Amino acid sequence: MPSPTRCKENQPIRVLAVAGARPNFMKIAPLMHEFARRPSRFEPILVHTGQHYDRAMSDSFFRDLGIPEPDVNLGVGSGSHGEQTAQVLMKIERLLIERRPDVVLVVGDVNSTLAATLAAVKLHIPVAHVEAGLRSWDREMPEGINRVLTDSVSHWLFTTEAVAETNLLREGVPPERIHFVGNVMIDTLLSHRERARKLNMVERLGLSPQGYAILTLHRPSNVDSADQLRRLFEVLGRLNAELPVVFPVHPRTAKAIEQNLGDTKPELMMTPPLGYLEFLGLLMDAQMVLTDSGGIQEETTALGVACLTLRDSTERPVTVSEGTNTIVGTDPEAIEKAIQKLRRSAPPKGRRPALWDGNAATRIVDILEKDLGNF
Ligand code: UD1
Repeated sequence: MPSPTRCKENQPIRVLAVAGARPNFMKIAPLMHEFARRPSRFEPILVHTGQHYDRAMSDSFFRDLGIPEPDVNLGVGSGSHGEQTAQVLMKIERLLIERRPDVVLVVGDVNSTLAATLAAVKLHIPVAHVEAGLRSWDREMPEGINRVLTDSVSHWLFTTEAVAETNLLREGVPPERIHFVGNVMIDTLLSHRERARKLNMVERLGLSPQGYAILTLHRPSNVDSADQLRRLFEVLGRLNAELPVVFPVHPRTAKAIEQNLGDTKPELMMTPPLGYLEFLGLLMDAQMVLTDSGGIQEETTALGVACLTLRDSTERPVTVSEGTNTIVGTDPEAIEKAIQKLRRSAPPKGRRPALWDGNAATRIVDILEKDLGNF
């Protein structure tokens, strides 16, 4: 594994930061802002792989979060896992040879994260992985594979919760490489809450605070089978009759609905994918959130909003042990029971996990500066 070399005296540290898919953008944003605050110390190069490319899945996030225009867009687009990963790998390798960064910074667990990591380590460029050590133990999820492989060759492993460190130590990662820094996604959430509130999304959709639920779905385990989709929408349709369910539809889910259900549309308040601020504005005042996303489990915990996770496992257990999350699985009957239980009980009281305080990006950039700088 490549070891970092300190920069030449008074030379800025060249960081090539990689983002590719929607859940990466809110993680890379506070890091880019932190580099911008230290112009004599860092020379950031932002690479968008193009894994997500729709305006609603990509451009709107750059605008809402004030992320600088990417220096390079690899334009890889959609494809099978093999194709998508291979495209990023090939294109980013050329770029790394050209730009020779001191470190490659990757976030999260998407195909772009793994591909950029592989290209970098083979060129002996050390990798810093933000959101390291999360394990769902479900190797059928592509993100699970991406996480294990990325962590196994990264030099800096920046973690969001205590269990991540335990997982990494068990896998033989030397303790000095693991840094518990908090959660960059929550940095973004905390710094955008007020702007999100000002959009008045709840009113604009004709809803009232605490008077609606939010649903997001995109995992193959929920959307790829016609039977599962139909049964899920039956249960959620019944909830919608009592409590409006806002359902911003991911493009992959829109396709699956069209293919599997034809003209029968779910009886929910369907919207196109929402922008970051619009979605956050809704999240803050929801009575409950039903989701199969990873990040939304953390965002609801930070906001103290009840979350039912429609998956069999979570790689973010602190959201259950300290936060407001319950793992309910994918069986529609069990989901209905969990919804009813939540409707009858007082809202769950969680607490915000340690170091989810808005300063994770500062801690990460401090560590990179200490390890790589020569000022
Ligand atoms: C990816 C991530 C997942 C993350 C999710 C959030 C991997 C393995 N998965 O899954 O971890 O939770 O992003 O959204 O990297 N599409 C569009 N426009 C876009 C992007 C995608 O129409 O801008 C459609 C395409 O048909 C594409 C499909 O959505 O084939 C899936 O996109 P892809 O990037 O392959 O995976 P996601 O399901 O979005």
